[in-house]
This record gives sequence, structure tokens and C-alpha cells, in this order.
Amino acid sequence: MSSNYPADAEMLLNELKKQLGEHAYNYHVLDNPTISDSEYDQLFHNLLQIEKEYPELVTPDSPSRRIGGMPLDKFNQVAHRIPMLSLENAFSDEDLIDFESRLMRYLNSSSTPHYVAEPKLDGLAIELIYREGTLIRALTRGDGRTGEDVSAQVRTISAIPLRLRAPYPRLLEVRGEVFMDKEGFRRLNQLREKNGEQLFANPRNAAAGSLRQLDPRITAGRPLRFFAFGISTAEGLEIEGQYAMLFDFLKERGLPVNDMTRLCKNIEDVVAAYDDLLAVRHNLPYEIDGVVVKVDSFSLQERLGFKARAPRWAIACKFPATQATTKLLDVVFQVGRTGALTPVAILEPVNVGGALVGRATLHNQEELERKDLRLGDTVLIQRAGDVIPEVVKPITEKRTGTEKPVTAPSICPVCSHSLVKHENEVVTRCPNTMCAAQKLRALIHFSSKAGLDIEGLGKKYIEQLVNEKIIEDIPDIFLLDQDKLAALPGWGEKSAAKVLEAISAKKTPPFSKLLAALGIRFIGETTATLLEQRFRTLGALTEASTEELLQIEGIGLRTAQSLSAYFADSRTRDILKRLEAVGVSPTAPQRPVAGLLSGKSFLFTGSLEMLSRSEAKKRVKENGGEVSTSVSKKLTHVVAGSSPGSKLQQAEQAGKAIISEEDFLKLIGKN
Ligand code: IVH
Repeated sequence: MSSNYPADAEMLLNELKKQLGEHAYNYHVLDNPTISDSEYDQLFHNLLQIEKEYPELVTPDSPSRRIGGMPLDKFNQVAHRIPMLSLENAFSDEDLIDFESRLMRYLNSSSTPHYVAEPKLDGLAIELIYREGTLIRALTRGDGRTGEDVSAQVRTISAIPLRLRAPYPRLLEVRGEVFMDKEGFRRLNQLREKNGEQLFANPRNAAAGSLRQLDPRITAGRPLRFFAFGISTAEGLEIEGQYAMLFDFLKERGLPVNDMTRLCKNIEDVVAAYDDLLAVRHNLPYEIDGVVVKVDSFSLQERLGFKARAPRWAIACKFPATQATTKLLDVVFQVGRTGALTPVAILEPVNVGGALVGRATLHNQEELERKDLRLGDTVLIQRAGDVIPEVVKPITEKRTGTEKPVTAPSICPVCSHSLVKHENEVVTRCPNTMCAAQKLRALIHFSSKAGLDIEGLGKKYIEQLVNEKIIEDIPDIFLLDQDKLAALPGWGEKSAAKVLEAISAKKTPPFSKLLAALGIRFIGETTATLLEQRFRTLGALTEASTEELLQIEGIGLRTAQSLSAYFADSRTRDILKRLEAVGVSPTAPQRPVAGLLSGKSFLFTGSLEMLSRSEAKKRVKENGGEVSTSVSKKLTHVVAGSSPGSKLQQAEQAGKAIISEEDFLKLIGKN
């Protein structure tokens, strides 16, 4: 396609720039890419080719400038046209109520304003200056009055447009947060570890360290992201408030804004938005440390003005600290349902964000080694996902020299079978499916909500029955004897009779339920339903070849292999035979098409992409399912879209199946 005529080359170049700009916008701002990465790379490559041939055609807003130019000697100091202020902090609901009272007093008003609640990203603030639509400069916050010129570094961040989408004001100064998401941070540290470089302590340090590189080519290789949160100058622009500015102006101009932002009609809505974000913070792909609350109306903002270092119209509501330090007493290795060994830290109990923590997960062997923990260490711990606490790192400064290394086992701590570690996995496993620990976990799963949901037979009781050697394998559950049960400590005639009744009621489970209850690796309810639709009976599924399994839309190699391995194992076959012998007989679905979702109840939270809410609800009903609006007992599935509400966490805690819109479509045989 190359031409000898620069005029043609220029036209082609402009077309490529336009296309690349459009794709970057789809990807970074709309979160909806329309071409693959490799197609994008091809376009980019074409652009580089032309620029290489005609260097005079290179412009400062060309995407090729993102590669990073020559290293700087130092960062130039540049004054901000308008100082970059900080925010006051609120640590409780009362602080927030006080904030509103102060506003009302200051405005001498009796009606309360609307607010915007924005996730407070944990990165570093940056100012972007666009003249005639082109990014001409980027500054760090610095001391608030003067910042450092990091233009060359910022140009390498692909989420930051080098050109705005028209129409734009002649001069636009945008402020926002540069940050690294959790996945990017994890990968960067992984790479640094491999190269023997010092690891970054957290995503914020990694983002700051990456941006403040004199050599922009280093910044270019770092996974930095950006969300805009405000403007300081916009010549000739009239917008009524913060929310419209973010979504009707900045986003339209091509700047990424955070979709978790909420417009709130009153302070109660703000508290609800805060609670929602607090509940999902650990599920977000990036770290947030609170919620920034801003008065929405610009005219009110103007009347409120600023104090010395912060605006009166905004406040940062910080999340409670979820980190603490304590002593590492021991590390034990737990064997999970699939044989995976998880190192668990035994800690001197300590209060973390309101909960007493005495154990914390260390995820896997590799992580344990990477963190270089020693017995007796003082460790920093945090509650991740609001439930499972984890060890972040040892506080090496507190070492006394008496700390002892942790020795990893080479045999299963429960059944003494030698352990295995597959090349492409980080976890070490006990391969013995008859390992007592795996059997116990399998029993707990079988009876749990994710399994057959046998009422009255929770984890505690399963453990008791296993310890008393009353049950060993899944089929034993169906052979429980009433008198024996009733005689156990903590049991009586009544409870024994009730549990037996509950067990008996589960003897004819839907085939997919039984399949998910067996705890086969990678087979959850969604996959089980797919298999049920195709095979209808256990017998037919047992005979299916890997190839046949792979033909099913939604079943990948991993799942197919796992199933084949499960059915090939004589011991698991024996369990299935015994299940049949004790009278467990799964039922095939009644109406395979019309009733795909019968007996299931769905709750939708967050926004869906492919379907509207009402369409989705219609589909549930068409397929014989029910729609639920609260996390109740009968609820079976939660379909989580983007920016889900607090019901997601409630559902998670209640052990409900959480599925994506895509999974949902698969369930109803679409997609
Ligand atoms: S507004 C005058 N909005 O928090 C208003 N700041 O503690 C100043 N931050 O320096 C900032 N997310 O780096 C604002 N949605 C958001 C934010 C945010 C993160 C950071 C920013 C600022 C610091 C203040």
C-alpha cells in the first residue's frame, strides 16, 4: 500500500491515525473493543512503516509517539495555572453528615444539594493540558502549585488521548488519576522478581515509580491506566455540574472516566453508594481507598469555594483500614477438595477492620516463597475480599535473627502421598483422590448449597460424622442410621429424623445438581447444566469421549479432560455405582427447551451489555425460571453485570451462584 507520493502517504497516515484513535477510544473509554489486539497492532505497524519512510510526516499527536522519546536529564518544574488542591477526609457517617451541615450553613440554604460519589482511585494525580485538541503538556501535582513536566512519560499511557474528539474548547486542562490495576501490578512484580529487581510494595508506588522515570521508554512498558475526575480550565465551556462534565463532556471528548461513579440525590444515597463501593472494592480490578463526594452543581461549587488546601464542596470518605501487623506463629498446609495445597498462616490473633484474625491464607507455595516469610516474623496482614485475610509481607526491619524458615512438605500432610506440581500451575497438589482431606472436602461440598444443599448437614456436622468414622464417602450419607445419629453428641431424635428426611428428599436431584455436587474439577452449576442439556443421564455422560465433550459450546479442553479423568478413575466410578445402589437417581430435565431454567430463581444486578433488564427477565420466565429482586432462600443465581450493587456481596455471602451475563446466555442456550 506504500506510495512514492508523500501526499498519498499523508492521506493514508491520517486515515490510520483516525482509525487507531477510534479503536483506542472504543477500548479505553467505552470498554468495548471492536477489533482484536493483533489487528490493532497491524494498523499500528502500518503507521510506523509510513512514518519511517517519511519522518517529516510525524506529528506530536501521532500514536507512534507513545513508544517514548529520548531520556530526560531531569524533570522541569512548571507552575499550575490553577493550584491542584487536596481533599479533606471523612472517616465516618457522622463526618459526612457534618460535611453536609457545613455546606448548608455556608450556603444558608434549607434544601440539600445533589452529590456525585466517585471511587477514590489509589494512584497519583495528574494534569493534562490540551490546546486546540492536542495534548501539549502533562504535569504531576507536585506541591500543588508547581508540578513536574511528565509530558513524555504521560504520552506513553495508551488510555490518555493525544488528541481530543471534537468539538473541544481551545484550551482544556483535565485532571485525573494515573494508576496501575491489580493485574498489571501483579505481572510487573512477577517480571521484576524474575529479573532480580526490587518489587513494588503496592500498585500506587508502582504507578508513581513508573511515571517518574526520566526515560519515557521505561514508562511505556508499564501497564499504567487513567481516569479523569475533573477540569480546571475549559475555555468557553458551559456545563451545569460534575456528573454531566464527566459523562457528557469528558467521556465524549475521549477521556476515560470511572463508570462506578454515582449521581446521588441526597446524602443517604451517598452513604448507600459508599457502602456499595466498600462491598465490592476487593472485586474491582484496581485499588480504591475511599469515595470522593462532590457537590454536583458547579454554581454551588463556585459559591462554596475553597479553604486553604481543599475545596469546601468535596470530601474524601476513606475506607476503614483493613491492614494490621501481628506475629506469624506457624504455617500449616491445608489440602483442598481438588488436592491443592494451601499454606495457611497461623497468627497471633489481631483485630483487622473490626474482625479478629488468627489465620490468613498464603495462597500457594510460590507466593509463600516470594514473600520470604519466616516463623516468628512480624507480618503485615490485610483482609482481602472483605472475608479471607491474607499475609501481605514480613516487616523485615523487625527481624531479630531468631526467625526460622518455613519448610514446604514434599508429601501430603494428610495421606503422605507424594505431592505433584504441574508445569503450568502454581499450586502443589496431592494427586490421591482418596486422600482423607479431599474426601472430607468433597463431602462438605456435596452437602453444601453449591452441592445438593442438604439442610441440617453443614460443615460442622460432616466433620463430626467423618471424625466419628460414621461416613467416609459420599454414598455413606444416604446410609446414615437414625439411632446412630441420634446418639451422637449434639444430636437428638428430632434433629436426626429431620436430617434423614432432608437427605431422603435429595435422592432424586436434577442431573445437573448432582453433577455439580460431585465436585469434579471445573464443573460448577453452569457447566453442569450444559452437560445436562446434552447428555440428560449420567450413563450417557460417563460414556462420552473428550471429543464429544469438546463439541459442546462452552466446554473447553480443561473441563473436558477433567471430566474424562473423573470417569476413567475406577474409584470415582465406584462412588457413582454405590450412589446408584443406595437409591440416588438423578432426574433428567423435563422440558429440555421450555424449562431450561425451571426450579431456578435469578436476580440481576449491575448493567448488562447484551440484554436489557426487562429482556433478561423475560428470558428467565420464558425458560421456566423465576425472577427475584432480593437475596432470598429460593434465589439460585445472581447475574452480575458491570457496576453491580450491594446485593452481589449479600448473594456471595449467602453462597449463591454468581454468574456473568455470558454464562446466563449460555444457560438459556444462546451465545
Ligand atoms: S478530586 C480539588 N476526585 O485523591 C479536588 N481526587 O486526596 C481534588 N483522587 O490528589 C481532587 N480519585 O490524587 C478527586 N475521583 C477523584 C479522585 C481523587 C482519586 C486523589 C487525587 C487527589 C487525592 C486527594
